[in-house]
Amino acid sequence: MNLGENLGVDLSIKRLHPLFGAEVRGVDLSHAIDLATQRAIEQTMDEYAVSVLPEQQLDDDHQVAFAALYGPLEVAPEVKGKTGARGIGKRIKHREIFDISNLDDDGRILDADDQRAVYQQGNQLWHTDSSFRQKSATWSMLHARVVPPDGADTELLDTRAVYDALPSATKTKIEGLVAEHSIWHSRAKLGGYVPSEEERKSRPPARHPLVRRHPGSGRKALYVASHASHIVGWPIDDGRALLEELIEFATQSKFVYAHKWRVGDLVIWDNRCTMHRATPYQSTQYVRDLRRTTIIDAAQLAAS
Ligand SMILES: [Fe+2]
Repeated sequence: MNLGENLGVDLSIKRLHPLFGAEVRGVDLSHAIDLATQRAIEQTMDEYAVSVLPEQQLDDDHQVAFAALYGPLEVAPEVKGKTGARGIGKRIKHREIFDISNLDDDGRILDADDQRAVYQQGNQLWHTDSSFRQKSATWSMLHARVVPPDGADTELLDTRAVYDALPSATKTKIEGLVAEHSIWHSRAKLGGYVPSEEERKSRPPARHPLVRRHPGSGRKALYVASHASHIVGWPIDDGRALLEELIEFATQSKFVYAHKWRVGDLVIWDNRCTMHRATPYQSTQYVRDLRRTTIIDAAQLAAS
């Protein structure tokens, strides 16, 4: 199937899952792309929520330039114990590149108890990137530079499809509810990363509706994540129970696509209508070097 033909662009699209996800070929992101190609990728994302673009030979400059076509970029926070000021070190020069690797700045594999390794364990919980920010994210783009021989799949699901499948009584119950999200809630749940006071202050909680309309498709999407700690105005335990029930429903295997990484894959997901999680691998034995760029939701910026 070819999409983008009405824009004069010949992108080849292969569906990855019955409900969402597309493998996209016919574009080389190591060169500047024209406006029609840029729009065709946006159309694909609005429909499929997740795009996999294989065999992309990108360096950090390319990745940042491509991501910046779609909006302002988040800056990676410094993680306690990581060398280099604010994430800028010997391996990574751009503040807009999130280091999703098990390496230190000299390229050595981190010890299991290294603070960065502990912090990243929280990524194994189902989440949506940056839901803990009031100005949350649209797309994340993750590019694979080095992958381990086994494991480390990224699992993803489309929360529009999940919302569609919810019982109507649940849809009625959750309409209008607002959840509070905090990065420190998810970090405490898995890994036990303890933030410094400065870190805690730099990333305060955020509040978002449980149900949001995805602008590109017009479909309603469930917006929950491991960062969601409780429902505003509800007793903590009741809210937490509802969030757990929703996450359990959403993460049924029928909704999930597991991406097996190949070097050169660029995977883009729309955080407004997906959840994802990392899966384990032998992280003290094999190198995994993936790099992420994340786009800030301009609509939320405009509303603030
Ligand atoms: Fe993530």
